[in-house]
Amino acid sequence: MAKCLVTGGAGFIGSHLISRLLCDDHSVVAFDHAPLDKLNNLFNLNSSSFKYVRGSVSDSSLFRDLINDADHIYLLAATLGVRRVIEKPIATANIQVDQVREICATVCAHQKIFYASTSEVYGKSNASPLTEDLPLVLGEPGKARWAYACSKLLSEYLLLSLYRDKNIPLVVGRFFNVVGPRQNQAYGAVVPNLLSQAIKGIPLTVFGDGTQTRSFCHVSDAVDAMLSLMNNDSCNGGVYNIGNDEEISIGDLADKIRNLFNPILEIKMIPYEDVMPLGFEEILHRVPSLNKIKRYTGWSSKIKLDEALIDCFMTLKNTSI
Ligand SMILES: NC(=O)c1ccc[n+]([C@@H]2O[C@H](COP(=O)([O-])OP(=O)(O)OC[C@H]3O[C@@H](n4cnc5c(N)ncnc54)[C@H](O)[C@@H]3O)[C@@H](O)[C@H]2O)c1
Repeated sequence: MAKCLVTGGAGFIGSHLISRLLCDDHSVVAFDHAPLDKLNNLFNLNSSSFKYVRGSVSDSSLFRDLINDADHIYLLAATLGVRRVIEKPIATANIQVDQVREICATVCAHQKIFYASTSEVYGKSNASPLTEDLPLVLGEPGKARWAYACSKLLSEYLLLSLYRDKNIPLVVGRFFNVVGPRQNQAYGAVVPNLLSQAIKGIPLTVFGDGTQTRSFCHVSDAVDAMLSLMNNDSCNGGVYNIGNDEEISIGDLADKIRNLFNPILEIKMIPYEDVMPLGFEEILHRVPSLNKIKRYTGWSSKIKLDEALIDCFMTLKNTSI
């Protein structure tokens, strides 16, 4: 049994991770700046092995005390969503920088760290599928959306240096579009958006011409991947894609959602300039190669897209009744 600290623990992936850690008999501290009345994600509040600490990773003394007290540290705190990042690039970057600076100053070799990075660090790469060893091409600093990817990538560099210089066991997971129950709808993520439109019976909106492709990983697969990396010492000091390699265009995704849940709905294409703030750039394709994580841990995603969509739809429908 390990003492686990999860930053961003009140969030979507964090709350699913915490449920699994508690099921596996670990004790968990969730550290998040979300107010208590927003904690509908954390239904384990009554477990004696669970504690919620409200605060920010930028509160150095509080965060350091929590780090000192943990065996396993999962770093998930972040500002997400292209629109929010464009509106708040400085705060977005500071969360990553503050979080990793405290980790570098505080952790010891008996602790272990998981860092939640992102497919956004692949930037404008045209490669498909994306492998972890690719050279990276990010957008220019004048476009605020890249503040998220740059600060995640800086964190990767700092953490991998910590592994090399101080032998601190750690792994970096680059998530590709994780979906599932309780995903925050406010960020404009495509799956919760389209599903809530299908539930409301209003047209499904696709930004751009719908030919851009993505792949979607169910959160329970993503949590399995995180744990398989944390439980396998041969993964230490490495970067691993976490996702699903079933590629689909956003136009076809809308079509699929319509066919599965509400066949009479119209699909509307909306030009980016009508919906996205200045500084937005679309990335046409983003599909992970999962060979590396499979080779190191044996993990591969199990949940197919249709199954993931049905799970998200049912939960969303039940919560919106
Ligand atoms: N969901 C995805 O598809 C996806 C894709 C790529 C990367 N990721 C990464 O995975 C992690 C979890 O993402 P998620 O989807 O659960 O997002 P989420 O927004 O649901 O969770 C992030 C949590 O971080 C908290 N937070 C933000 N700033 C904080 C601060 N200063 N101090 C403490 N807590 C703070 C938020 O309150 C929120 O609860 C993030 O690091 C994200 O960058 C997620």
